[in-house]
Amino acid sequence: MGSKTTISLLLHFIFLSITLTDAQNCYNTGNFTANSTYAKNRDLVLRSLASNVTANGGFYNTTIGSGNDTVYGLVHCMASPPAANCSSCVNYAIQGLMTACPHQKEAISWGGNPFQCIVHYANRYFFGSLELSPTLALYNTGKIDATFAQFDQAWSGFTDIVTRASTNSSRLAAETTDLSSTQKIYVFMQCTPDVSQSNCGECLQKSVDYYRDCCYKYQGGLVGTPNCFFRWDLYPYYDLFPQVTSPSPSPSTPFIDSSPPPTSITITKGKENTTSRTVIVTTVPTAILLALVILILAIFRFRKPKQKVKSKLLLIGSSY
Ligand SMILES: *[C@@H]1O[C@H](CO)[C@@H](O)[C@H](O)[C@H]1NC(C)=O
Ligand SMILES: *[C@@H]1O[C@H](CO)[C@@H](O)[C@H](O)[C@H]1NC(C)=O
Ligand SMILES: *[C@@H]1O[C@H](CO)[C@@H](O)[C@H](O)[C@H]1NC(C)=O
Ligand SMILES: *[C@@H]1O[C@H](CO)[C@@H](O)[C@H](O)[C@H]1NC(C)=O
Ligand SMILES: *[C@@H]1O[C@H](CO)[C@@H](O)[C@H](O)[C@H]1NC(C)=O
Ligand SMILES: *[C@@H]1O[C@H](CO)[C@@H](O)[C@H](O)[C@H]1NC(C)=O
Ligand SMILES: *[C@@H]1O[C@H](CO)[C@@H](O)[C@H](O)[C@H]1NC(C)=O
Repeated sequence: MGSKTTISLLLHFIFLSITLTDAQNCYNTGNFTANSTYAKNRDLVLRSLASNVTANGGFYNTTIGSGNDTVYGLVHCMASPPAANCSSCVNYAIQGLMTACPHQKEAISWGGNPFQCIVHYANRYFFGSLELSPTLALYNTGKIDATFAQFDQAWSGFTDIVTRASTNSSRLAAETTDLSSTQKIYVFMQCTPDVSQSNCGECLQKSVDYYRDCCYKYQGGLVGTPNCFFRWDLYPYYDLFPQVTSPSPSPSTPFIDSSPPPTSITITKGKENTTSRTVIVTTVPTAILLALVILILAIFRFRKPKQKVKSKLLLIGSSY
């Protein structure tokens, strides 16, 4: 593969990163008509969620309307992020819902990059009950750079993290585990605060199992369901991870191992178990990508690319 191909692939990747960075699911349980009372109530609910969530510590639920026009809404900002991040995630999620699900009586969004909130509205009461679908699953298409023994060991530890998250008063865990002497896994788990401790544990364990089935061996990813969120990656993605010494790679490290490559996203609906859509998103800020392009240019200019780098670039290319 020539350097021109590589660069055009990366530019394509940047384009994708700008255009496809959200994830939502429109339920197929009924549509409302424009200008109906339900339509107005939905708008009021979404507005209320956006304007009340930060003042309520990142979790808020509301009910507006009566009879068949009742709209129930829930919002949860994960990782108790700073107010600005919570608001921007929720506003972004709501925009996505209004665009993707203009007339659906029920829909859910897990926010956009960096997937930090859940926004869910419906024409049915769903607060406090455990729902395991629909499921959002994303994986980082980079392969794990560790022996299988280390990888399996790290995975087996996730069950303990599920327990710690579900028994935590915020229903959350953010932990760092050694994968090898040079790599760490950053694991985040959280449930919406309206579910019980046991439901939280079940939700998270199912998410870990789901991820193991769909996305094992990839270097990172996430699973979102209506009541919980599981994510792991080789770099710290939220501020709340315990501070660790320099996760930044040495210059000799193959660049792609230390930065998040494009991510494949799949939303699976409950019983149908079909993929409703598949798109490519990325968790890499565009600035980092531009830096990568420059780095690649430098690599191709001053030396022959290593076989390892080549094969990983092919991996990126094949992921579209
Ligand atoms: C709702 O509308 C969408 C198109 O906007 C359509 O695909 C879907 O089948 C409708 N659902 C129901 C239950 O009528
Ligand atoms: C909804 O209301 C707007 C403005 O009031 C109007 O322009 C539009 O035609 C209405 N749509 C329907 C389907 O009644
Ligand atoms: C929630 O937001 C709405 C505006 O959308 C506001 O009228 C209402 O007072 C807020 N409720 C609470 C409990 O803050
Ligand atoms: C919010 O959810 C709780 C259950 O978790 C429920 O008891 C309460 O009535 C809901 N509040 C509103 C305003 O719907
Ligand atoms: C509400 O919906 C149910 C079934 O979906 C229907 O039987 C009932 O007539 C509706 N009520 C009103 C007031 O529209
Ligand atoms: C809950 O988890 C967070 C993040 O790991 C931690 O900071 C907090 O101390 C935990 N709270 C309890 C009560 O364990
Ligand atoms: C909050 O948002 C800023 C900019 O939007 C971002 O740089 C930062 O990483 C976010 N914080 C968290 C905890 O995600």
